[in-house]
Amino acid sequence: MEKILIAGPASQILGWKIAQELSIEVINTENKTFPDGENYLRINIEDETIFIDKEVIIVQSTGPSASGNQNTRLMELFMIIDSVKRMGAARIIVVVPYLAYARQDKIFRPGETQFANVIFRIINSLGINELYTVDLHAPEVLDECSCKAINIDSMKLLADYIKTQGAEDIVVVSPDKGAIERSKAFARNFGENIPVEVIEKERDFKTGEIKMSGSLDLKDKDVVISDDIISTGGTMASAIKIAKASGARKIFAVATHALLLQQAKYRIINAGADVIIGTDSIDNEVSKVSLAKIIADYLK
Ligand code: R5P
Repeated sequence: MEKILIAGPASQILGWKIAQELSIEVINTENKTFPDGENYLRINIEDETIFIDKEVIIVQSTGPSASGNQNTRLMELFMIIDSVKRMGAARIIVVVPYLAYARQDKIFRPGETQFANVIFRIINSLGINELYTVDLHAPEVLDECSCKAINIDSMKLLADYIKTQGAEDIVVVSPDKGAIERSKAFARNFGENIPVEVIEKERDFKTGEIKMSGSLDLKDKDVVISDDIISTGGTMASAIKIAKASGARKIFAVATHALLLQQAKYRIINAGADVIIGTDSIDNEVSKVSLAKIIADYLK
């Protein structure tokens, strides 16, 4: 079946790169916000018949940025899916490298909602055939998806990039206990027996404040602190301070989805990181590792 790719407003370059990898046509979109705050999206085409009987791949990350918050990004995604369905697409494949609301996967306080699940229920209702995301915060929420759903692992790509940056005597640091398994898997990409150190992190679920502590064995080591998301940079900055106090030499602050909100970049560099590394799931100045090839390989 012939394929065609739509690069949503949040993933224009990543979408374009995936289309190059697949050697297929790419179409972009136009978007705006109406004066009342509602979103508008139009696929940039003149002929509505071009999707008939085609497999349409939609690439749209849903992270917040200056050009649109995550609610806007989700609305745009829903609008693209709905449009191509209306225009007769035979199959719809959705690629959402960063999935907004993925961290709202559990009930921590009475009266909350597991909104990560709701996002999938909405997507299910729109009728798609396959969904691909990357390093999902809690992969088990994919069970909510009624179609084929894949969580792509970007850790090898990130590790390969770090290896090119001259890191030696590496220790991987997990910024909280919940990320231990992820950090262990990440460490294996640097070789057998790469040590993994863990920081204790406690969050006050009412205020959102975090407390981190620990004394790690990092003397004269290059340290890779790896997380799935950097949002405000609070977790990463605290982990970096602990790593520095524990004797770390060079510090790589690494996340698949480096949202870098508010003062995050300053906080992380000021805490002592030598470099911040993210993927182009979020299109910003630290997205040094492209997901295009790995996503294209899954789509082939
Ligand atoms: C939380 O469990 C996540 O894995 C990240 O550690 C968290 O989202 C980072 O947020 P922030 O950068 O605001 O500390």
